[in-house]
Amino acid sequence: FEAKRLAGRKVVLTAGPTFEAIDPVRGITNSSSGKMGYALARACAHAGAEVVLVSGPVALPVPYGVTRVSVQSALAMREAVAAAIDDADVFIGVAAVADYRPATPAEHKIKKSGEAMSIALTPNPDILAEVAARPNPPFCVGFAAESRDLDTYAEGKRRNKRLPMVVGNLVQDGLGQDDNQVVIYDEAGRHPVPRAAKDNLARSIVKHLADLLAAR
Ligand code: C5P
Repeated sequence: FEAKRLAGRKVVLTAGPTFEAIDPVRGITNSSSGKMGYALARACAHAGAEVVLVSGPVALPVPYGVTRVSVQSALAMREAVAAAIDDADVFIGVAAVADYRPATPAEHKIKKSGEAMSIALTPNPDILAEVAARPNPPFCVGFAAESRDLDTYAEGKRRNKRLPMVVGNLVQDGLGQDDNQVVIYDEAGRHPVPRAAKDNLARSIVKHLADLLAAR
């Protein structure tokens, strides 16, 4: 790995899914192994950064040199990010945050009745968009996992959330796997990265972001 490109920088990342309680034993979640976010946290630490990894529930060990803050819900993830972000130079949102949460989680286990039932959902905040909208935001990187029309959706997210950089992938290419194929989108256009193990991919992504950060 080349020189410590992120020495003296602080990087905050989110990774993994969020878990939104329905009652004390049930919840809503997204599929996310956390592997890509953890690989990125490791690559940032390797590049010399101080790294805070705000992680939803995953079955992965804390990467060497990384401070992990474990959370469950999107609201808790947002709070943990807010607590770490003030002096951050880079924010990377890799987490698969649940778009909705149950409006009022039940205090006790819901009993089955044989009747149809429905759960009222309320939208979660967009953590990445909120960080990117701060005055003097850190360099913000988003992820876009799509099942089709990757270019349109990923570049659309980059513009809507006002991000200098988005990493896009097709879910069928990488979900839960150890390797992936991604495209990086930035002001200059699209930059395909060849299929690689998530650790190698993370290094390519960190190199790209370090180049953009240095050019700012
Ligand atoms: O809009 P979408 O959820 O596909 O955008 C994905 C990007 O936004 C990811 O980087 C993800 O971590 C971030 N995000 C977030 N908070 C949300 C939803 C998405 O930080 N509530």
